[in-house]
Amino acid sequence: MTDARPIGVFDSGLGGLTVLAELVRALPGESFIYLGDTARVPYGARSDRTIQRYSREAADWLLARDIKLFVIACNTATAYAGDMLQRELSVPVIGVIEPGVQALLSRSRNRRVGVIGTRATIRSDVYARRIRERDADIQVFSKACPLFVPLVEEGWIDKKITRLVVQEYLSELAREDVDTVVLGCTHYPLIKKTILSEFPELSLVDSSEETARAVAARIQSEGLAADGEAGAVRIYLTDLTRQMSDLESFLSGLSIESLEEVELHAG
Ligand code: DGL
Repeated sequence: MTDARPIGVFDSGLGGLTVLAELVRALPGESFIYLGDTARVPYGARSDRTIQRYSREAADWLLARDIKLFVIACNTATAYAGDMLQRELSVPVIGVIEPGVQALLSRSRNRRVGVIGTRATIRSDVYARRIRERDADIQVFSKACPLFVPLVEEGWIDKKITRLVVQEYLSELAREDVDTVVLGCTHYPLIKKTILSEFPELSLVDSSEETARAVAARIQSEGLAADGEAGAVRIYLTDLTRQMSDLESFLSGLSIESLEEVELHAG
C-alpha cells in the first residue's frame, strides 16, 4: 500500500527549512507542504499561550490540506504545543525535541550535556526534563541564545561579531565541561561550523538530521510511504515580504514547486 498524501511541516518562519531540507534528502519520494508563519515570527519571545494558539492554527491549516503526518520543525512550538497537538490531531505528530534528546543521550560520553535554544524553549525546560527522565544522573546545562536567530536571519554566519556572540554564550557551557550540545533551535544548524570553529571539542546534535531520521522511520512503521517517485515541495508563508535571496540561504539547494503567501484563518 502507498500513501501519496503530503507530509506537513510547520515552523514559526524560515528556519524550519533546515528541517525540510533534511526531510527531502531522507525521503525524496515524498511530497511536502511547508508552512512558515513569517508574519508572526519569532515565537521564541512569545508567551506559552500565544505559541499554543499559533501552533494550533497552523496545524488546522495543514490538516485541511490532507496531510498524512505533521512535523513540528520549530523547537519553540514543539516545547509548548507538541504534547497538545499529539493528543488532538488525527495524524501522527513528530516534533524536533524527542529526536534531539535521543541523539544527545547516545552521544555524550561524560554525561555532561548542553542545551541551547530560544528564551521560550529554555524557559520551558522541556529538553532538560526529557533528558533527565531517561537518565537521572546526567548533568544538563541550558542556555538561551536569543541573538543567534537575528544573526542567522541577517546572513552573518561567519562574521567576527557572530564568533564573539558564540564565545559569549557557549563559554559558560564549555566551562561546565559539557561534551555534547543539542542545537535546540531551527536556525542554529546554519552556524554549526562557526560554533565548531570556536569550540572544536564539542559534539553538536543537529535536530534537523535526527528529526528526518525519526520521520522516515515513522513513515515506514505506519505504512505511510509514497510510491517512490519524486515528490513535490510546496512552501506557504504567512508573509512574503522577504527577498528570494534571503530565502535561498535557508533553502540549501532545495528545489521547490511553488511559493505562496497564505492567511491561516482562511482555512
Ligand atoms: N523556529 C524557532 C525555534 O526553533 C526559532 C525562531 C523563533 O523564535 O520563532 O525555536
